Amino acid sequence: MKKIILVGGARPNFIKIAPLYFELLKRPQRFTPLIVHTGQHYDQRMSEVFFKDLDLPEPDINLGVGSGSHAVQTAKIMMAFEEVLLKHRPELVVVVGDVNSTLACALVAVKLKIAVAHVEAGLRSFDKDMPEEINRVVTDSLSDYLFTTCEDANQNLRREGFSQDKIFFVGNVMIDSLLGYYSKISQSNVLTRYQLKEKEYCLLTLHRASNVDEKDSFCKIMNAVQQVSKKSKVIFPAHPRTKGMMGEIQLQDQKLVVTEPLGYIDFLKLEKNARLVLTDSGGIQEETTFLKVPCLTLRENTERPVTITSGTNHLVGLDPKKITKEVDILLQDGDRDFVLPPLWDGKTSERIVGVFKDI
Ligand code: UD1
Ligand code: UDP
Repeated sequence: MKKIILVGGARPNFIKIAPLYFELLKRPQRFTPLIVHTGQHYDQRMSEVFFKDLDLPEPDINLGVGSGSHAVQTAKIMMAFEEVLLKHRPELVVVVGDVNSTLACALVAVKLKIAVAHVEAGLRSFDKDMPEEINRVVTDSLSDYLFTTCEDANQNLRREGFSQDKIFFVGNVMIDSLLGYYSKISQSNVLTRYQLKEKEYCLLTLHRASNVDEKDSFCKIMNAVQQVSKKSKVIFPAHPRTKGMMGEIQLQDQKLVVTEPLGYIDFLKLEKNARLVLTDSGGIQEETTFLKVPCLTLRENTERPVTITSGTNHLVGLDPKKITKEVDILLQDGDRDFVLPPLWDGKTSERIVGVFKDI
């Protein structure tokens, strides 16, 4: 019986570990999965609601680290996770995505000579100003199994010198969840709650440090959003990081609806029915590609270029003129044909667990 620890710390991590957890449970004679929540995200709407929406049990262990500077948060996770590994001695630690919890837990495991699997390996924005880029590069360098979502990630890893036998092109676990929970969106009354009509509103999310921590960048984006909201209703489930900055600016437009962060099922329903999505999220670039909903990414770069080359994503940066112009084009444009990236088919966790049979 192999013990496998699945690490989740932040909102998108819970969505990524859920299909892996349920896939491991299908093989009770071979695997015992344990969920470790680092506590990086802890508000009910950033954490608990996802366990409920995803039908996940409560985490086996919650490290409860909370917020802090990068160094403080990473160090606290490492200290607490080391104790967990020494006690439970798993055969494998699975980390997902690119958050501080991902890096911290991979580093602890590798030093205790426990194998590490990185799900969503090889993505690169080539922008080291992004803390997530550092987390991605370092986590990949520590990992024994590099599970990738797309061909450009494979190329990045090969170029960086990783041996081919560590790279497993398996597809995207976010899409496993999207497909797995899709039928639940009929239970959500989010459109009625916010008086929204299908395809008659834009959905906005923002949480990237570079966009919401500095007033200048945030004002630029919100300036564009206010222009957009003159033409279309905009719903904005605001990440807690964004809340502080929201207090600093004047928002008068009735057509801009700011809400608390939403649960996964409500959010998927909003995403699916949006006319278009404006975001700086990584996962949402992928989900909109799968759902064929136009997406404008409010960043200068993306580690997910396949969502542009195959999918519905457009990189628009922060210039309000460019953003409003692109929104106008999309609001008038009919739907185009898009190609789904290979292996975004809902079977990624099955392929990953198939690889684990050899551990
Ligand atoms: C983190 C990840 C980011 C990911 C995002 C997903 C890092 C470096 N960043 O960003 O890659 O895209 O999660 O949402 O790991 N806060 C609360 N309640 C919470 C959590 C956070 O109020 O439950 C507030 C705190 O003021 C905290 C701030 O949000 O300082 C930032 O939280 P943190 O986890 O450090 O980074 P995120 O911006 O959430
Ligand atoms: N999401 C959600 N509620 C929200 C905003 C996002 O459930 O209010 C989901 C979204 O569907 C996606 C994931 O959270 O699956 C993306 O997380 P986030 O944007 O916080 O992080 P990133 O993907 O950028 O790391």
